[in-house]
Amino acid sequence: MNAPGTATKDESQAPDWVRHAGLRQWVTEVARLAKPDRIHWCDGTAAEYDGLCAELVRGGTFLKLNEKLRPNSYLARSHPSDVARMEDRTFICSQTKDQAGPTNNWVDPREMRATLQRLFDGCMRGRTMYVMPFSMGPIGSHIAQIGVEISDSAYVAVNMRLMTRMGRAVAEWLGEDGDYVPCVHSVGVPLAAGQKDVPWPSNEKEKWIVHFPETREIWSYGSGYGGNALLGKKCLALRIASVMARDEGWLAEHMLILGVESPAGQKSYVAAAFPSACGKTNFAMLIPPAAYQGWKVTTIGEDIAWIKPGHDGRFYAINPEAGFFGVAPGTSQATNPNAMKMLSANVIFTNVALTPEGDVWWEGMTETPPARLIDWQGKEWTPGCGRVAAHPNSRFTVAAAQCPSIDPKWEDAGGVPISAFLFGGRRSSTVPLVVEAPSWQDGVYMGATLGSETTAAITGKVGVVRRDPMAMIAFCGYHVGDYFAHWLEMGKTVHHPPRIFRVNWFRKDANGKFIWPGFGENMRVLEWIVGRCHGQVHGVDTALGIIPRYQDLNWSGMQKFSHDQYEEIARVDVGAWQEEVTAHDELLEKIGTHLPPALAQCRAQLHGKLGA
Ligand code: OXD
Ligand code: MN
Repeated sequence: MNAPGTATKDESQAPDWVRHAGLRQWVTEVARLAKPDRIHWCDGTAAEYDGLCAELVRGGTFLKLNEKLRPNSYLARSHPSDVARMEDRTFICSQTKDQAGPTNNWVDPREMRATLQRLFDGCMRGRTMYVMPFSMGPIGSHIAQIGVEISDSAYVAVNMRLMTRMGRAVAEWLGEDGDYVPCVHSVGVPLAAGQKDVPWPSNEKEKWIVHFPETREIWSYGSGYGGNALLGKKCLALRIASVMARDEGWLAEHMLILGVESPAGQKSYVAAAFPSACGKTNFAMLIPPAAYQGWKVTTIGEDIAWIKPGHDGRFYAINPEAGFFGVAPGTSQATNPNAMKMLSANVIFTNVALTPEGDVWWEGMTETPPARLIDWQGKEWTPGCGRVAAHPNSRFTVAAAQCPSIDPKWEDAGGVPISAFLFGGRRSSTVPLVVEAPSWQDGVYMGATLGSETTAAITGKVGVVRRDPMAMIAFCGYHVGDYFAHWLEMGKTVHHPPRIFRVNWFRKDANGKFIWPGFGENMRVLEWIVGRCHGQVHGVDTALGIIPRYQDLNWSGMQKFSHDQYEEIARVDVGAWQEEVTAHDELLEKIGTHLPPALAQCRAQLHGKLGA
């Protein structure tokens, strides 16, 4: 590569608000390789968004929804082979395989660069190359990071405008020499002269989502869907950011952030990690039960948290995203009224069903499905036809500012102070409703050994416990054992580390029914958690940690939940836990010599307590 601004002729077609010679040069180089017909620098304006949406409608990628029922909203249907993140096609190309660790796919970076060179050569022929400067986090925040995504997909460009702060203001903030993470994306379907495009171009033969952690670069080829293509989200804000966080002393986590305010005005923020498809969006937008007069729950984010030590000895967190790319099925007036309101206008829906009136529908939205629909593949659908109407991983993309419960500080450049970290998974047995770790170290062990039962949205096999350390199995950009060591260290960098809790809303009874009603009732657990953080409530010591007794939780207004049911959901079954701890070994053994001794010690102590 030439030094910035030298030798290479500027062929970036950059507007004059791009003053960064290095950025212009990089765009020139990518354009020479990918050979697009045009280059479009995104300014991020509403006019640009509307224009691109209109183009997507003309090209058949978008269908405009009924303006009266769902104003300014669109439906996209992807190719059936391009419907989700692809973990088996995701690579961490660190210098050595050992640096990527046992939970990541690895290819030698030299070999991968050669592969990418081959794939990207001419891959944008016949297409427009969009250049999107974007900020993860409020522009200028000391916790934020800048990325620039190049993509040949207008669908990606409009989604990026909702999901990030994108456009001219970011390029201006970058100035002449600011740092940015280069992110290159192509759907991998060049067009021959005069060839008509398809509504959802994606490469059926080859998909690659590639990260170079040392050089902090992202290259993605072949998919146009979600985290494979909107590179600010999982690729930058988690995989690359986790590496930056390790190197610079902060945390990049797969966590929602919410605020809880008591009637007395005491405000606390908690950050919670749950694997995909465990109801993170619903929890982040929780509405407290009627008996909780005067309590407020507010939303900072529903997927990712960036957390830095503050000068006052506490951790401060921002949501690096500006929008939500949420799973649609299961979202309803009953499960998440805030989300339903948020989705009433200005939304991009992907792979949900279409009603005859030109509105959207998905499984769970209403108890009774409409009599007729067009399903996510564009086929006629009737209830009982044997197919789902919306894909299980169908999504909405919407600006966070539209969320009725959005917290007044959600764009605060300094972040919000975190009082508690929660780790939750989907477990039908064994794991109690809530338990507080006795120490930071035990909490790290709790997060490290997090397990969750798989759902149809994640894999073909349903109901199998998959270990998902800190809900980061698919998102940690380096060796997971070193990541645990980093967590252990980070606890020492602040005077008041957050307390750590394990929660489980999904325990089932002997008849296979969920015991806990969940949703708004999770407020009772949240109240106890923030109460613990302020030293206001009690619990009882168990082998796992501190668990609230029945009388330690607030049951007002909750008639149908008996003392016995509580005992069932709070129970620590020693036999089941002995098996659980043995099951942790599968992950711990894989980590091998990178396992921090402190965690091996936690495991031994837990085993000892269970045996006693
Ligand atoms: C997501 C995920 O899309 O975790 O947020 O899969
Ligand atoms: Mn997620």
